[in-house]
Amino acid sequence: MSAVYLLLLLLPLVSTQTFHWGGCPAPEVQPNFNLTQYLGRWYEIERLPASFERGKCIEANYALNEDGTIQVLNSQIEENGVDVAEGTAVVLNQTEPAKLGVKFSFFSPNGPYWVLSTDYTSYSVVYSCTSIFDIFYFDFAWILSRSRSLPPQTVAEAKGLMTRQNIELCKMMATDQTGCPDN
Ligand SMILES: *[C@@H]1O[C@H](CO)[C@@H](O)[C@H](O)[C@H]1NC(C)=O
Ligand SMILES: *[C@@H]1O[C@H](CO)[C@@H](O)[C@H](O)[C@H]1NC(C)=O
Repeated sequence: MSAVYLLLLLLPLVSTQTFHWGGCPAPEVQPNFNLTQYLGRWYEIERLPASFERGKCIEANYALNEDGTIQVLNSQIEENGVDVAEGTAVVLNQTEPAKLGVKFSFFSPNGPYWVLSTDYTSYSVVYSCTSIFDIFYFDFAWILSRSRSLPPQTVAEAKGLMTRQNIELCKMMATDQTGCPDN
């Protein structure tokens, strides 16, 4: 299959994502990642554009399932109400616990979920990249917070961290977290 054909095939999927030629960046991830401390609710502060994220008040809630996998509940408020996507995350290799894989039933793509940096109690920097035979890749990046806002300096540091790992952030956009219901 030619690269162009592949690209045409995948274009509907990637057109609203950020995509680039070549292979994925290989950023470093959070050392000694502790999943237990990471569980709970995270609010999205900024993201690279993603077709499945159109609303406001976007948040994710991570809980431990009995089988050791993680239940993922993503929610956003759209014009016609609350949209919830449920997924499952797993640590793929115990030697690299900060690299998870997430599967969603419908709305969202399956893919990697790499925690690049987190202090567990205020911010998290998450990256997801999928490459098609190293010909091109599309990626997602999220800056998450335990509250609906983050100090600008923390956001700037999160972006600096990603930029230093060759992640392109020119399309990064802020998530509207105003006028949201209380949890
Ligand atoms: C992860 O954090 C929990 C809660 O603070 C703690 O009980 C546990 O020992 C930690 N696990 C590791 C591997 O450090
Ligand atoms: C897990 O990761 C380590 C370090 O990257 C690697 O050496 C090992 O082969 C991996 N294990 C599996 C089952 O993929």
